[in-house]
Amino acid sequence: MDTLIFLLLLGINGATGVSHSLKYFYTASSGVPDFPEFVAVGVVDDVQIIHYDSDTMRAEPKQDWMNKVTADDPHYWERNTNGLIDAQQTFKANIEIVKKRFNRTGVHVFQNMYGCEWDDETGEISGLNQFGYDGEDFIIFDLKTETWIAPKQQGFITKQKLDRSKVVAEQTHHYFTQTCPDWLKTYVNYGKTSLLTTVPPSVSLLQKSPSSPVSCHATGFYPDRATMLWRKDGEKLHEDVDHGEILLNHDGTFQVRVDLNISSVKPEDWRRYDCVFQLSGVQVDIITKLDKAVIKTTEQKLSDMFILSFLIAAWLVLSLLSSLD
Ligand SMILES: *[C@@H]1O[C@H](CO)[C@@H](O)[C@H](O)[C@H]1NC(C)=O
Ligand SMILES: *[C@@H]1O[C@H](CO)[C@@H](O)[C@H](O)[C@H]1NC(C)=O
Repeated sequence: MDTLIFLLLLGINGATGVSHSLKYFYTASSGVPDFPEFVAVGVVDDVQIIHYDSDTMRAEPKQDWMNKVTADDPHYWERNTNGLIDAQQTFKANIEIVKKRFNRTGVHVFQNMYGCEWDDETGEISGLNQFGYDGEDFIIFDLKTETWIAPKQQGFITKQKLDRSKVVAEQTHHYFTQTCPDWLKTYVNYGKTSLLTTVPPSVSLLQKSPSSPVSCHATGFYPDRATMLWRKDGEKLHEDVDHGEILLNHDGTFQVRVDLNISSVKPEDWRRYDCVFQLSGVQVDIITKLDKAVIKTTEQKLSDMFILSFLIAAWLVLSLLSSLD
């Protein structure tokens, strides 16, 4: 359940190039069996660094390199634990307030996602802070105008309160322009050997039979922030393509495939198509041209196996004959 909510939330992310991000996800729930009332997770570049929940009531590192923080900041974990215990109380109160405003029965989830992104090439910084209730946006902070947006009428009172408070405005501004980017840079520095590690995949084109779709398959890459697409004349194709999910391999690397339906592609047009694989943090894309000569087919494998078994049989017969001699 923990992982599920976490993964759902991660769907919002999409880091590219050399940008880094620090995000926190707070989830307060009521009426969910076997799930802590409050869970907080901190994530750098989609890698979980910190975990807190209302069962353990302790902020704990999720990466070995996060233990390095105490060298420069001995009270880091104690301070974060206390901060999250406070957040837990606030969120418990919040969920009750919002529950009353919506007057719904059953299971409820109140969430906050906040954080910042930093482009280490341009130095540009952006931030986000949004609250959700039962899976819908409740109130969002607009960093450009530094005002709050309430997509739901039930969030309007909160918006007015927050917009009026000078203290909230100053703290929010300071957090997103200073505190958050500073911590992000610190974390990236501690974890750089693992965060900045990239492993390129091997990419191949696979096909079951001459009429079936051509599958562009990349495997063995790391991290999982990757995109793959088919292009025609250098333009991204949206039709006749089927995107697979990014899957985890046994060794911790990832694989992905994108199929191209070639049933309406004329043989002379094949050379106009290519498959592009992009890995976050890696400038050079892997480009594979659609070419009959490089496609590995399952039939090919079958015929290879057939030849092999024929050779084995022939060798058996020959050795049998020679032993009779
Ligand atoms: C809340 O909902 C219940 C039934 O769903 C209804 O009887 C009650 O009047 C509602 N209360 C408010 C304040 O809207
Ligand atoms: C490929 O496209 C053709 C029509 O262009 C369609 O009839 C066929 O079902 C598609 N094949 C797959 C596997 O989607």
